[in-house]
Amino acid sequence: MYKAPRGTFDILPQEHACWKYVEEKAAFLCRLYGYQPLSTPIFEDAQVFAKTVAGGTDIIDKEMYIFKDKSGQELALRAEGTAPVCRAYLEHGLFNLPQPVKLYYIGPAFRYERPQSGRYRQHHQFGFEALGEADPALDAEVIEMAQQFFYSLGLPQLTIHLNSIGCKLCRPRYLVVLKQHYSSYMDQLCPDCKARLVKNPLRLLDCKKVSCQEIAKTAPKIPDYLCHECQIHFQSVQEYLGAVSIPFQLNPRLVRGLDYYTRTVFEIEPREAGGQSTLGGGGRYDHLIEELGGRPTPAVGFATGLERIILNLKNQRLDIPPLPKPDVFIAYLEQEAKIEAMKIASELRREGIPVIMATGDKSLKGQMRQANSLDIAYALILGEQELLQRTAMLRDMRSGEQKSIPLTEIAGFLKQFKM
Ligand code: HAM
Repeated sequence: MYKAPRGTFDILPQEHACWKYVEEKAAFLCRLYGYQPLSTPIFEDAQVFAKTVAGGTDIIDKEMYIFKDKSGQELALRAEGTAPVCRAYLEHGLFNLPQPVKLYYIGPAFRYERPQSGRYRQHHQFGFEALGEADPALDAEVIEMAQQFFYSLGLPQLTIHLNSIGCKLCRPRYLVVLKQHYSSYMDQLCPDCKARLVKNPLRLLDCKKVSCQEIAKTAPKIPDYLCHECQIHFQSVQEYLGAVSIPFQLNPRLVRGLDYYTRTVFEIEPREAGGQSTLGGGGRYDHLIEELGGRPTPAVGFATGLERIILNLKNQRLDIPPLPKPDVFIAYLEQEAKIEAMKIASELRREGIPVIMATGDKSLKGQMRQANSLDIAYALILGEQELLQRTAMLRDMRSGEQKSIPLTEIAGFLKQFKM
């Protein structure tokens, strides 16, 4: 028996109510904030990620699905949504539109990770990006939007962690003191952190090993090393957040798992966190578009994983509206009635009424059992007598009441219940 590859899973019909709920809330939120949908391919030139996500992060070093196609071109499965959005922004000249350009996406992302609850090799991200604007008000708006998204889903118990990781000017100064701090604990560092100290020192702060976290506790804090412009930007983001009453926690050790961020970074966690708890994260990435060959273009965005949202919705046992069911099940006796049933089913569907028609050689009792198990509101039953009279028996499956109805009136009758 074949199985879905490790770290991936099928989304069965009964699960889709949850997915639809989340996707519809996402689309509505984006309308509220003026974001338009953008879909990018599932694979990109591998350089789109290699150039932007940068080496020294786990995503590039260990987790990318990279392969050569038959022409020898090196491609990568989409590992995250931001770099492809920036690639599309450049490719389609969206920088010529009034800025900022606001785009959102929902789609799968692929990372070769060790699978566990909330962490998969294929996951789905909802993300939004505002490109071409440096205003700190936009950072605050993106954070507010992320928070409002979780509220609209029924997940209000959140903590927003906020930090600034500075810019190309001030961060190098900070990295010098950070490295000095960690160098004095060299013998206590885990092997990964020893490598980070050389390749990507900022990521030292994000190590999950208890011994390394102890060292992080006494590490110099990046907000103390911000240049004047970054300080003002950070201050303004906080003021704008205050203006729209968004609570946040300053977290000077927050750095993100991707390397393209500048200034604002933030992450959102459920208040009762544990395991793979981060629901979403984002921040400003003012150099990413330039790294892909564009002009210097500031930008800010956020993404969240749908699987983690759905885990949280299930933990909270929230009532999710079920997917709509077909309105009517058509059952029949004998071949002649079956042909009439086919005609009625076809006509009703053309009128926009969802129908399931019995197939196979089930007895009428078997057909009604099927209607019951599908939880359909009405059954239409066609027998010999009904055929002669050009009627059908309409049965309300909940109350068990039934009445004879002329074939010509079926669509009208069912439509009145859809209103
Ligand atoms: P990220 O933090 O790498 O950021 O991923 C965003 C979210 O995707 C995570 O918070 C998590 O909910 C979900 N996620 C990531 N990896 C997995 C996984 N293996 N399994 C399940 N869920 C996962 C980004 O990708 C950035 N592009 C976010 C961004 C947008 N920054 C600016 N704009």
